[in-house]
Amino acid sequence: MMGPVIGPGPEPVVPEGPGPDLLAANAPPASSPGHVTWGIEPTGPLRGDVRISGSKNAVTKLMVASLLADTPSVVTNAPRLGDVDITAGMLRSLGAGVEIDGDTVTVDPLSTTGSRIPISYTGLNRVPILMVGALLHRIGEAFVPLVGGDRIGARPVDFHVQALRQFGAEVELTDEGLEAKASRLRGAHFALPFPSVGATETVLMTAAVAEGRTILDNAAVEPEVVELALLLQRMGARIELQPDRRFVIEGVAHLEGATQRLGGDRIEAFSYLVAGLATGGKVRIFGCGQDRLVTAISTLQRMGARFEITDDHITAEADQLRPAAVQTSPHPGFMTDWQPPLVVLCTRAAGMSVIHETVFEDRLGYVDALRSMDAEVELFEQCLVGEACRFQESGSYHSALVRGGRDLRGAEVEMPDIRGAFAYVIAAAAAEGRSILHGVHHLERGYDQALAKFSDLGLRITPT
Ligand code: EPU
Repeated sequence: MMGPVIGPGPEPVVPEGPGPDLLAANAPPASSPGHVTWGIEPTGPLRGDVRISGSKNAVTKLMVASLLADTPSVVTNAPRLGDVDITAGMLRSLGAGVEIDGDTVTVDPLSTTGSRIPISYTGLNRVPILMVGALLHRIGEAFVPLVGGDRIGARPVDFHVQALRQFGAEVELTDEGLEAKASRLRGAHFALPFPSVGATETVLMTAAVAEGRTILDNAAVEPEVVELALLLQRMGARIELQPDRRFVIEGVAHLEGATQRLGGDRIEAFSYLVAGLATGGKVRIFGCGQDRLVTAISTLQRMGARFEITDDHITAEADQLRPAAVQTSPHPGFMTDWQPPLVVLCTRAAGMSVIHETVFEDRLGYVDALRSMDAEVELFEQCLVGEACRFQESGSYHSALVRGGRDLRGAEVEMPDIRGAFAYVIAAAAAEGRSILHGVHHLERGYDQALAKFSDLGLRITPT
């Protein structure tokens, strides 16, 4: 029952850059080598240590939450990423003070007087929609340009809009973005149709200073969502996480700024562990706790990986890899962002692996380029492993069969998105012959100092 192979995806949209007044705020992160193409020479097994940075998918949310207080908040162990610079630019455009000093980000919300995120931020990342609740509380109105983020599915914002309306906001979607206003926001009881990370974050931030009690059912409980809840609690919010994906929030009148150290990025951690395994090497990661990687570790163990796990590091190696049958799902399941590196790893395992992507319907498009590297991957519309998912009848190619064991060959490819980008670097490192990877800005949006970290593992990368 082999299905047809998906054709090449649409050309990636290059978002319009911010206006001149914002260019400084959006300069590439200090770690950026300023190149958009990497030449990669496979150098054999990748071995060595990687210090994992703070979590990409928590840092920007904590920066936004700072807007809810009247005094500064500080995030430490922050990764140096394009997304942090973009978010800092947006906050500054509202009048907030943002200082980035090494891995410490300080947001001073006091001088925030603006309520409109400039249209030039259209499509850059998913953060603007998360600012609406805080802006409604501070200013009473908000405009945010349409959200962007990687092209891995339709990614609508309907759950956010429904939640904001239930808090009492008037929300209108225009061709340019989302306009909202509210004279008061009142707690409500609602359930998400799917445990969306972003929509849960919108609810947590809006509910924290809304009047009365909010109950959110079917909430996302990803570690990054919990990190946001922890910061809000430190700021004075009254938040409870109950069993069965339920958050209960009692609104308070004021929040104070707080300081929080970010936990390690579990996507980065998994990606480097897989880079070691896929090249027959051994990578030891520091800075990301085992508790964030439980499902990742058990999945890799089933594939034959051996782990050494201590309180400060995790090492993985394998003599021979076995194929996998994996379905992605919200936490505590196997996370969708681990899926692209896993598929590359499956090409190194002897036998047939089956992957079912259930969080984003279009997150397998990157396999086209893997095929040009001689990977044998077929995509299917059907739900191939685990439960039937929301995309069963959608016509989207969200399952993959990977026939492992064949040698990969270096190729010239375009990076499609953050996680696909990292997967290509792993594939290039495991391949025979040189690869040329274009679109390194995708990688830099999500991985702190990837060039240096890969180089430390022995990979020869020539930025051009
Ligand atoms: N969804 C809706 N309507 C909504 C919101 C979400 O239908 O209003 C759907 C989405 O289309 C998707 C599912 O719900 O099918 C889950 O989306 P979610 O809202 O959880 O994703 P997100 O908040 O947009 C964050 C991360 C993603 C990560 C997902 C899932 C950030 C900035 N992004 O996205 O990270 O894959 O949660 O864990 O936190 C990445 O880092 O590469 C990345 C894409």
